[in-house]
Amino acid sequence: MNLEELKPKVTNILAQEQLSVEHRLEEICNVLRDNISYYNWVGFYFKNGDKNELKLSSFAGEPTDHTIIPFGKGICGQVAESNSNFVVPDVKAQDNYIACSITVKAEIVVPLFVNGKNIGQIDIDSNTIDPFTDKDERFLEFVNAEVAKVLEK
Ligand code: SME
Repeated sequence: MNLEELKPKVTNILAQEQLSVEHRLEEICNVLRDNISYYNWVGFYFKNGDKNELKLSSFAGEPTDHTIIPFGKGICGQVAESNSNFVVPDVKAQDNYIACSITVKAEIVVPLFVNGKNIGQIDIDSNTIDPFTDKDERFLEFVNAEVAKVLEK
């Protein structure tokens, strides 16, 4: 399934108001991981209350030890401060990187804005080197914008 075909699936999952938001986010993680061959770990991190750290919410893939990430640390912590997408074609070339698994070769993190505020992010790890294109960035921005509509309610 290509990225465009996944968009209505994401929208339909988020429309399931009988499910908790966490459960809906978990379904999105599963659908993305199951349908995009180079998405090997998919998760949402959110700002942890009033602390300057991220906390892992829903995810699909291997459990990670990195459930709390201070702002500024790793790719995720940098995006919490930069408010910009971070595409890493080769994680070995990054100094400020937190390794979750030795199989991971590339990563993309896209911030999630609610009412203009960076409140979290979607994080994808890939076991393929340099797999992400502009299409992934636009797709993940779409996913986050759809999630934001639910969180803004
Ligand atoms: N690699 C991330 C940490 C999160 S794991 O990928 C799940 C980072 O450098 O921030």
